[in-house]
Amino acid sequence: MNKKDRIVCGLDIGTTKICMMIACEHSDSGLELISTGYSNSSGLKKGVVVDLEEAAASIRKAADEAETKSGVSVDWVTIGTAGDHFQSFNSHGAITIEGNHQEVTEDAMKQVIKAAQSIPIPPDREAIHVLPQEFFLDYHGGIQNPVGLYGSRLDVNIHVVTCQSTLNQNLINAVNRAQMRVNKVILQQLASAEAVLTKDERELGTALIDIGGGTTDIAVFLRNAVYFTSVLPVGGSHFSRDLAIGLQTPMEEAERIKKDSGTVLTERVQEDEMIEAPGMGTRARRSVPRKYVCEILRARAVETLELIKDQISKAVENERLIAGVVITGGGSMLDGMLELAEETLGMPVRQGLPIGVRGLTNELSHPVYATAIGLALFGAGEAGHRKQGRSKTGSSPWLFNRILSWAGN
Ligand SMILES: Nc1ncnc2c1ncn2[C@@H]1O[C@H](COP(=O)(O)OP(=O)(O)OP(=O)(O)O)[C@@H](O)[C@H]1O
Ligand SMILES: [Mg+2]
Repeated sequence: MNKKDRIVCGLDIGTTKICMMIACEHSDSGLELISTGYSNSSGLKKGVVVDLEEAAASIRKAADEAETKSGVSVDWVTIGTAGDHFQSFNSHGAITIEGNHQEVTEDAMKQVIKAAQSIPIPPDREAIHVLPQEFFLDYHGGIQNPVGLYGSRLDVNIHVVTCQSTLNQNLINAVNRAQMRVNKVILQQLASAEAVLTKDERELGTALIDIGGGTTDIAVFLRNAVYFTSVLPVGGSHFSRDLAIGLQTPMEEAERIKKDSGTVLTERVQEDEMIEAPGMGTRARRSVPRKYVCEILRARAVETLELIKDQISKAVENERLIAGVVITGGGSMLDGMLELAEETLGMPVRQGLPIGVRGLTNELSHPVYATAIGLALFGAGEAGHRKQGRSKTGSSPWLFNRILSWAGN
């Protein structure tokens, strides 16, 4: 490290795991991942703190591991959060451009974004992201930055993400109790998108789906902007729970069976394939047809994909998502999930692995690290130090420059 290099850190507070990603923002060559720490999420349920001490302890455990491996101590972190208390909406604002020349100034741009925030947010909620989508000058759209252009009327469309303030504060408190300070809270799927989507995908139209343990997080990108975000309260743990119930086997065995023997492509499973399922408590282990196991997984997968389809259709017409769907998160690892998604969603699907960051080892090129790596990229933007260093995803952190603060009307 030289003097101008900075340590930045992403902390993914997931429903099944907490992942700390420490990276170095080199002043001359961009971001490099240097170490990770991992712990099981405890004290949290569906992204919400239910036991402050336990949550702080599991956050500290992940941080200790990453700090010990890298020999650096972390102070500020960018955290990723999701949960079904997150809501989002699109809004629109317009102003008249005053003055002789009718040139759009920085001030006018701020004013129109403020005008788009005239919708009152309930007092128990706060806006964590305000994302401009598109500006219009005298009704001509497709403008990403209107400053310096001439016109008499300026319009903007924005996407706003809100969360329940107390639940957000509880999460920040848990991180503080783990002896770190939070520089920004980012919706998890926006962080994942930062790590896995290419510039073209964001421009042409893509739905990013992060299938985690307890939630499935969706973000729809079009013309380089966020058009839709939502969080579904269903994830990989529901697949395992279905198996635990169907096979009368403990959760951890169901989880193992799902990963080792599961597929959602039941047509590829032979009738005579059998697997062993340990019984609950003192009950004896049983031999069950693998086909039965996979039918349970497939039923949950189809249901989840139908919910995803429904959400995407609320955002934009399928035809506008020219680059299709990118699925990341641990749930994307379930065998056959991508093929089934392609069939159910009727769009091309690829798996989202983190790309274009230095220090990506084989272990880190995995969908479960997408959020933490995306958060480190945001952290780098926050440090205001970003220069270059990412090859495939273009000038990043792309979204960082687009996230504005709520005007607080
Ligand atoms: N090889 C695999 N096959 C099937 N499922 C897998 C595999 N690997 C991981 N998973 C599933 O992925 C889920 C965890 O994914 P991930 O680590 O992305 O979740 P998370 O970030 O903790 O949760 P969330 O994003 O909902 O907050 C678990 O349900 C796990 O069973
Ligand atoms: Mg996750």
